[in-house]
Amino acid sequence: MAFQIPRGTQDLLPGETEKWQYVEQVARDLCRRYGYEEIRTPIFEHTELFLRGVGDTTDIVQKEMYTFEDKGGRALTLRPEGTAPVVRAFVEHKLYGSPNQPVKLYYAGPMFRYERPEAGRFRQFVQFGVEAIGSSDPAIDAEVMALAMHIYKALGLKHIRLVINSLGDVDSRRAHREALVRHFSDRIHELCPDCQARLETNPLRILDCKKDRDHELMASAPSILDYLNDESRAYFEKVKQYLTMLDIPFVIDSRLVRGLDYYNHTTFEIMSEAEGFGAAATLCGGGRYNGLVQEIGGPETPGIGFALSIERLLAALEAEGIELPIHRGIDCYVVAVGERAKDETVRLVYELRRAGLRVEQDYLGRKMKAQLKAADRLGASFVAIIGDEELEKQTAAVKHMASGEQTDVPLGELASFLIERTKREE
Ligand code: HAM
Repeated sequence: MAFQIPRGTQDLLPGETEKWQYVEQVARDLCRRYGYEEIRTPIFEHTELFLRGVGDTTDIVQKEMYTFEDKGGRALTLRPEGTAPVVRAFVEHKLYGSPNQPVKLYYAGPMFRYERPEAGRFRQFVQFGVEAIGSSDPAIDAEVMALAMHIYKALGLKHIRLVINSLGDVDSRRAHREALVRHFSDRIHELCPDCQARLETNPLRILDCKKDRDHELMASAPSILDYLNDESRAYFEKVKQYLTMLDIPFVIDSRLVRGLDYYNHTTFEIMSEAEGFGAAATLCGGGRYNGLVQEIGGPETPGIGFALSIERLLAALEAEGIELPIHRGIDCYVVAVGERAKDETVRLVYELRRAGLRVEQDYLGRKMKAQLKAADRLGASFVAIIGDEELEKQTAAVKHMASGEQTDVPLGELASFLIERTKREE
């Protein structure tokens, strides 16, 4: 029996991987510009980290984690998200003591969630995320959202929408929670069993229910924005004011509660509005988590961040018909005609590569005509043909594929000739 890839995962083949590299590079460059530095944490962590960090009543923890016991009997989990691990590293390495505050970090890597696979929803997916830890200045909320939007815009996306909300501070959340319990209690039996359980454990999650989304109790549920205390309201006002100053359009959705428990104050998502994009329209999600560092054992420290999935970013680019400027071609294909020439090309190809050129040669003993075809398939800008005659003269017959123009170039000058010519073409 032939093996098949596990459900909800994907192989990225050449042709596709260049797109990943390209978008990741754009995101990395922008992070550097905004002052974020890369952090890399393990793919798996102690399960307890996510129970505490993400919240043990969330869907992620209750239904979606890949948890296993290692041979030493430890409970480990493939990370379902990046914020709790980054905060764990922040605490473990005492980055709160670093003179550079806030600590601004970015990461890129696979995350794992046992979800029902569908378009844009995978069991292994790659998140690119940032975390700014150590400041509760609303200006950094604006910065984080500006950076996320900048990544999408730099890649050419036009049909995206920033949706924001505030969950307020602990007091505001408590008042809202009580109002939710009052609102849902009498008729909770009309909602799904998950919602019934959530009424006790985490009533805010009811608003995020996918099954009961259209139930009339949802539309009439108390809005968190009516329960923000003065401080939380002022904070949210300032965030909105900064976004307006930066000319970043946004809409407010008081039902944006997010699927992880660590949030307070600002939460946000960026959605694709491209036609036919489908259900998984949320490209990016994030928010403020002022209690998380302490929850994970560090000193009281505020934080905010976001994560976007590269899979959905690429799908959004496709939905908007955006072609990335990816050049897959090579600079030169060296064609060998005959045994002696073959020996020479092995040396020459290595020399050209050491000079910085993208070069290929034949490894299948093909005839000249087939080698030329191979060069064409690889998108070679030039072919350099070497046969007995050229060997005698120590030259190569160099052909510019686009124009057909042909020149004899001394072998010793081939590298500089190609560097000069390919530079001019770019
Ligand atoms: P999240 O909303 O769970 O937040 O995930 C962030 C993004 O990851 C989503 O908007 C979506 O684009 C992508 N995503 C989630 N699940 C899948 C999936 N199964 N397949 C493909 N893409 C997916 C977080 O993970 C938080 N850690 C974000 C954050 C950072 N908050 C503060 N800092």
